[in-house]
Amino acid sequence: MISDSNIYKQKSIEQWTKHPIGAHLTKYPEGTKEFFDEIADFRYKIEFSWFKSTFKFNQYKNKKVLEVGVGDGIDHLELAKAGASLTGIDITPKSIELTQKNLELHGYKSDLLVADAEDLPFKDNTFDVVYSFGVLHHTPDTQKAIDEIYRVLKTQGKAVISLYHKNSLSFWLFVFLYDFILKGKFLRMSLKDRVSSIEKGGDETKPLVKLFTKRQAKKLFSQFRKVKIITRHAGLPTSSGRKLGKILNLTPVKNFFEFLANNGFGWYLIIEAEK
Ligand SMILES: C[S@@+](CC[C@H](N)C(=O)[O-])C[C@H]1O[C@@H](n2cnc3c(N)ncnc32)[C@H](O)[C@@H]1O
Repeated sequence: MISDSNIYKQKSIEQWTKHPIGAHLTKYPEGTKEFFDEIADFRYKIEFSWFKSTFKFNQYKNKKVLEVGVGDGIDHLELAKAGASLTGIDITPKSIELTQKNLELHGYKSDLLVADAEDLPFKDNTFDVVYSFGVLHHTPDTQKAIDEIYRVLKTQGKAVISLYHKNSLSFWLFVFLYDFILKGKFLRMSLKDRVSSIEKGGDETKPLVKLFTKRQAKKLFSQFRKVKIITRHAGLPTSSGRKLGKILNLTPVKNFFEFLANNGFGWYLIIEAEK
């Protein structure tokens, strides 16, 4: 019998094989340099304008970095450009192919392999840094994945992990109140399915999407020596309540929302934890 855990992992593979992250944002053929560059431009200039100043990839020059869940390799390329010594894994073979292509097209290299975050194929104490953005809320046993990250980090090594945040404007205002309740989606779908559809194409593939509170995140990282958690992303221009998001984005409310997103109510919990 296939366990629930394996079903969810299969769903992840189906989701990101059919809908590589950001592919809907570009008209260029998949796997071309223009395809990757346009997705990267949207990511860093429009969707996540806060990204580069938050993660400061340049600090990883000459560090041994593992990225868990590389997707199309958009951040992986930035880590490579920053001079990190790179390894990347993803459970979806297509994600590894795309990342390989993206790096090759830009003249960089990484050790890339298909692997599961819950069972990392590396020895204890291998990496200076483990980075993972938007991945571990899709794996059934998030705690197991974080324990694996702890294991493969060197002492004083750093985990930099982003998870979806339940107590955020994006979830409560756009997804729950506006879209699920006021627009009446609760009449035809469960909240779990509505949350799955946050991912592009997720209304059909229904990937596992979990949301964490800050308290839950702290517990997940309790074996680390030092843990710092911040929040980012108001989610207005690309929010799940798209029309409402677009309208609010044109008003001064935008600044207020960004202030709240950076001060406890953003869509991403960004956890920096030292082993
Ligand atoms: C939303 S995408 C994020 C990709 C990338 N980090 C980014 O920010 O663009 C999620 C990625 O995590 C991968 N993933 C999901 N569960 C995983 C697991 N258990 N182990 C490794 N990768 C996983 C998926 O295949 C997919 O490529």
